[in-house]
Amino acid sequence: MIQHCEGVYKPEDDSYLLVDALLAHDLGGKRVLDMGTGTGIVAVAAAQAGADVTAVDVNPLAVRCCEENARRNGVRIRVILSDLFERVDGTYDFITFNPPYLPGTDDDPDYDLAWSGGKDGRAVVDRFLVQFPRYLRRDGALLLVQSSLNDPEKTKHLLKELGFCTRIVAKKNYFYERLYVVEARRCP
Ligand SMILES: C[S@@+](CC[C@H](N)C(=O)[O-])C[C@H]1O[C@@H](n2cnc3c(N)ncnc32)[C@H](O)[C@@H]1O
Repeated sequence: MIQHCEGVYKPEDDSYLLVDALLAHDLGGKRVLDMGTGTGIVAVAAAQAGADVTAVDVNPLAVRCCEENARRNGVRIRVILSDLFERVDGTYDFITFNPPYLPGTDDDPDYDLAWSGGKDGRAVVDRFLVQFPRYLRRDGALLLVQSSLNDPEKTKHLLKELGFCTRIVAKKNYFYERLYVVEARRCP
């Protein structure tokens, strides 16, 4: 049971799509890094499935919320306040990220770090994509939520340039957007 917290992204369909994509794997004893954890919904599910979980968020309210949700659900999660990988070390079998991807800038009255990916929706994800490979184990997998609103072809292209092969492992269609979970692994 995940508690929502004031000032923290409330889990939506994108969150559940990522949880399902992660839980399709055997996580027993695996090291999972959940970037942009928010309430910790993905991190808690991974810990409940037997993973050794580290969760990261740049929002201190999210860090506290994730810690509280871990406590409520009786699981241990290492929760780190960090701008992407700035304060992260080690390597992981799975890295998950449901990034802020909607186009929006701080001129917007509703602007929020939880969903805004800057002018083109790619500000956070582009920084993430160049950083994550050194934290992913050789045979590890990245599970990344993407939307038709923030140029998923660019994500695929960048991952290919970094030596990763991709496939869509989950998707959901709406009249205004398509959501995907992209799985990326190092190409053989
Ligand atoms: C769309 S929400 C996803 C929250 C949660 N993982 C879920 O699926 O419900 C994006 C999360 O990324 C966090 N975030 C935004 N920029 C970040 C950054 N530079 N480093 C770490 N986390 C960041 C936000 O605070 C927010 O909690």
